[in-house]
Amino acid sequence: MLKTLDELEKEAILELPGATSEDALNELRTRYLGRKGLLTQMLRQISTVTAAEKPLFGKRSNEIKESLAHAIDDALEMLKASRKDQVLLKETIDVTLPGRGVRLGRLHPVTRVSQEICRIFSRMGFNVVEGPEVETDYYNFEALNIPKDHPARDMQDTFYVEDNIVLRTHTSPVQIRTMEKMKPPVRILSPGRVYRPDSDVSHTPMFHQVEGLMVDKGITFGDLKGTLTYFLRQIFGADILLRFRPSFFPFTEPSAEVDLRCVMCTGKGCRVCGQSGWLEILGSGMVDPAVFENVGYDPEEVTGFAFGLGVERIAMLKYGISDIRLFFENDGRFLEQF
Ligand code: PHE
Repeated sequence: MLKTLDELEKEAILELPGATSEDALNELRTRYLGRKGLLTQMLRQISTVTAAEKPLFGKRSNEIKESLAHAIDDALEMLKASRKDQVLLKETIDVTLPGRGVRLGRLHPVTRVSQEICRIFSRMGFNVVEGPEVETDYYNFEALNIPKDHPARDMQDTFYVEDNIVLRTHTSPVQIRTMEKMKPPVRILSPGRVYRPDSDVSHTPMFHQVEGLMVDKGITFGDLKGTLTYFLRQIFGADILLRFRPSFFPFTEPSAEVDLRCVMCTGKGCRVCGQSGWLEILGSGMVDPAVFENVGYDPEEVTGFAFGLGVERIAMLKYGISDIRLFFENDGRFLEQF
């Protein structure tokens, strides 16, 4: 009988290395040590053992039971430890690899140019004022001397929200809102988004404008020329050539468009300037007396000038960009260049 106990132990020891999973080890434990297990069954046969053999039989079977239980526990421990090692191994970080640098964002070129414009005018004492993008017909048109059904309305195609509500077509309404609120002297700049239903290589339905207004006693067209010349030299360089060309806007009289000698061909004529050698760069003029009357200013007492420009257009000329839509596609490869 003792011999069979020894055989059982040997069998179990031989089987142990084959049990390489938790399940296999648990199965082994049940098969030998479980309530109906091989060792348990053998212990039941103690009654058939002679009285002299009984103590030894009991001792041996307890030894086997314990050592087998230990061996299985150890094997389970080792299994767990090696699984942890594998996880650690898989999750190792190679600290010698170069880091994956964080990509820094940067300001959008339109924002940069808009900020640059505002900075230049701030130095001349202009204050930045903002206003709503959804405007009433009154502020966007009527107060600016553009009555309903007047042909001048055709100058600016318009998105209508409702009958008398529009997406502002320029930032000029901010000038009206400001003049209604404060007395001269006024020196303001109004940057912001504006909307017109246009779309091609040089127009997008939404674009950015900066408009300026200066009102005081004795402001002349000379102030307008001096201010805008200084500004454009700051943006494009001191050696640029400008021309003030008579034009028409309902809210200014006289009005002038400012042209810049083409920065691409320096006047020889190219695709960008439509072979004319000149680029239209902004609209300007002396504030029309009718506009002053609309805001309660006395046109006999004060005069002023106003101007408006498209930020994208300035940015395109400054950076040599031929398609305005690039600004809005937000392709990182394009934006990274500024
Ligand atoms: N508001 C005009 C436009 O958007 C620009 C402008 C502003 C012209 C002020 C003259 C004076 O077209």
